[in-house]
Amino acid sequence: MIRPQSFQLIFAEVRQYLRDLNSLKRHKIQTVTLFITNRCNSRCIICDIWRQKPKVDLPIERIKNILEDKILSNKPHFVVTGGEAVLHPKIDQILSLLSDHDVDITLLSNAILADKIVKLVKEFKIRNLGLSLDGKPNVNRKIRGFDQNKTLRKIITELKDDEINIWINYTICPLNTREDFMWVKNLTKKMGVGFTAGIYSDKFIGKFQRGNKLSESPSSKLPYDISDLIKSPYLRLLTGSYKLWASGNLRLPCFSIHTKATILPDGKVNLCEGKNVSLGNLHEQKLGEIWNSIRTIKLHKDYIDCNDCWVSCHRLFDLRIVMALGFIVPTPFLNKFFGPYDWEKVGSFRLIGELIRRLTQPT
Ligand SMILES: C[S@@+](CC[C@H](N)C(=O)[O-])C[C@H]1O[C@@H](n2cnc3c(N)ncnc32)[C@H](O)[C@@H]1O
Ligand code: SF4
Ligand code: SF4
Repeated sequence: MIRPQSFQLIFAEVRQYLRDLNSLKRHKIQTVTLFITNRCNSRCIICDIWRQKPKVDLPIERIKNILEDKILSNKPHFVVTGGEAVLHPKIDQILSLLSDHDVDITLLSNAILADKIVKLVKEFKIRNLGLSLDGKPNVNRKIRGFDQNKTLRKIITELKDDEINIWINYTICPLNTREDFMWVKNLTKKMGVGFTAGIYSDKFIGKFQRGNKLSESPSSKLPYDISDLIKSPYLRLLTGSYKLWASGNLRLPCFSIHTKATILPDGKVNLCEGKNVSLGNLHEQKLGEIWNSIRTIKLHKDYIDCNDCWVSCHRLFDLRIVMALGFIVPTPFLNKFFGPYDWEKVGSFRLIGELIRRLTQPT
């Protein structure tokens, strides 16, 4: 039986595809990820941001400059993260500034400072809030150095009636298990919030400085698969394709770098969240100048073939674009235009399958 909401979902998805393709075509920035500070009150094993010294905060003037820049696409999305973003000394002014503009805002947090997070979200009408939790309390404590189960529940309870899109970010890593994922998923169900999942990466931005590894190489310690427990088609595909990618049998172009800007606390504009490659610095140049420079255009072209990470904030975007292109354009044309990638492994048949599932399955 086809559910009426399915058509709404598909309509929203097609609209999003068109937006994505349009910003890719025009080389505009659709998502700005602001790592506003490297201050952090957690001690995660999977991330070394809390160890970074000195502590650096992105000045509010740089964010003002970004907001005025013509390089942004229509209604861009700002992801406010860190470190623990709410520890930025001027977090109130930053959220106030962003909420005065026509932009979508997502706040990412480790959910430790419950009262502060609730106050900021309410005061600045933040509509999207992602909170991290990596397993049952004892496992979560082992991974994150602090178990924020209680404060996370407090935040959700206090914000639940405010029409805020809240979800839990679960990171699959060598220290948690499928049972932990199921436990977190059940919690999201019980509390009426969403969830998303990423996979631990030694290449993630938080590992750039120290680079100590949790696993020797992605393929030597493959994480468990949770794709059968997930309904969202892209997340299912992302988690379910990890082994194929890690064993070197899935080559996808990296489109996301063409439309996502990664800004670090020291003003550096990074190529992405998976490579320590700087495109320029906001203390020296405007974002648009950096984005349209010959060097950036060359790096964007060179790294389309990178395929070096499976970091969800980039590769989910790539999977969606590859699926859509593989659906619309015959593979020989795609190969000719972009190069020989594994379009068909995530392309048309997968997309048709997912569409049928979406149209027919209960929520
Ligand atoms: C860097 S944190 C910043 C926001 C906030 N401090 C938090 O922990 O949610 C954003 C997300 O990245 C995830 N993360 C941290 N280290 C990672 C790694 N090495 N690989 C993949 N994801 C990682 C965290 O679990 C969290 O969900
Ligand atoms: S994952 Fe988040 S909470 Fe943990 S150390 Fe990194 S920035 Fe801090
Ligand atoms: S695949 Fe893309 S996002 Fe990942 S490291 Fe390479 S360029 Fe960066």
